[in-house]
Amino acid sequence: MAEPDTTSLRAQLRPPSLPRHDPTEPAESSVIRALTRSWGIRATVKKREPDLDDLFDPDRLDFPEVLIPFHTHRRYRDLDERRRARLRAWAWIAYNKNVVDIEQCVVNPGFASVTDDALGIGPHDTIVLGVMQAMVDEQYHTLMHHNASALTRRRRGWVLPESVLPPSRTVRAHREAVARAASPRAEALVRLAFTTVAETSISAYLGLLTEDESLQPVNRATVALHRRDELCHSSLAAELLKIVFADLGRTDRRVLLDALADGIVAFTGGDAATWAAIVEHERIPGGKELIADAVAAAESGRVVQDCSAIRSLCTELGVADDLHLDW
Ligand SMILES: [Fe+2]
Ligand SMILES: [Fe+2]
Repeated sequence: MAEPDTTSLRAQLRPPSLPRHDPTEPAESSVIRALTRSWGIRATVKKREPDLDDLFDPDRLDFPEVLIPFHTHRRYRDLDERRRARLRAWAWIAYNKNVVDIEQCVVNPGFASVTDDALGIGPHDTIVLGVMQAMVDEQYHTLMHHNASALTRRRRGWVLPESVLPPSRTVRAHREAVARAASPRAEALVRLAFTTVAETSISAYLGLLTEDESLQPVNRATVALHRRDELCHSSLAAELLKIVFADLGRTDRRVLLDALADGIVAFTGGDAATWAAIVEHERIPGGKELIADAVAAAESGRVVQDCSAIRSLCTELGVADDLHLDW
């Protein structure tokens, strides 16, 4: 009697699009291999740096009015143009700080847990290479956003010290989730989840500033260059999650999904604490009312509306309905 074909039986039992990880073979990915091969010609860090001073136009807005959570509030409309311009410059400084905080405190530590193999996936050299290239990109993005803030301070002649600002909302939520993790393995899953959310959603956050023609050209250029890299990081992060997810047990999956939901809520929401610090520092008349009326209300809504990348990733994994989240 012919032996049953166990290979095809096993293949039928697997969930669709989730290749099982063979422990004798280091995990690989053709998507990540292609990304590593193109890095040298596509990454912003490999390109000539634009002259930021040349791109600065003092007559353009440093930040879109519509993205200031209280731009329609009477207290804001009553301010003179100089004070509104300072608040827009602050918004740009805070936006940059948010990006830098996420890259330094969330994404690169999350990537490091992959290169250190904290989850025991045994990544192929190509995967480690792809992740290390992305970590170099993130370090360069941090420099780009730092330079953009420094240019704004210098050309406007305003101090606008970042020490006024609290850690950003995503970083606060990340710290809390890491602190709640019940084991080093759970902590590694939380780090991977927040990194995945950041890397699949940051293009949408950067996209908020690339379409506005009235915006400061140097700010648009900074964000557009960063965004080009992030469209590739989104594919990298999605592949990493798929590789890890395929081998997780039920408990690990729950930890990961809860952390993904926490990450999405924090990443897409507003940040009342940051705006409260800015308004207090600027001694805006009626500042407390402004925060209570407009900013706190906006925090429960979404700044980043487009969650399509992380949502389709969760749908592909068959878990979109398992996240405790109102998509
Ligand atoms: Fe980045
Ligand atoms: Fe990235």
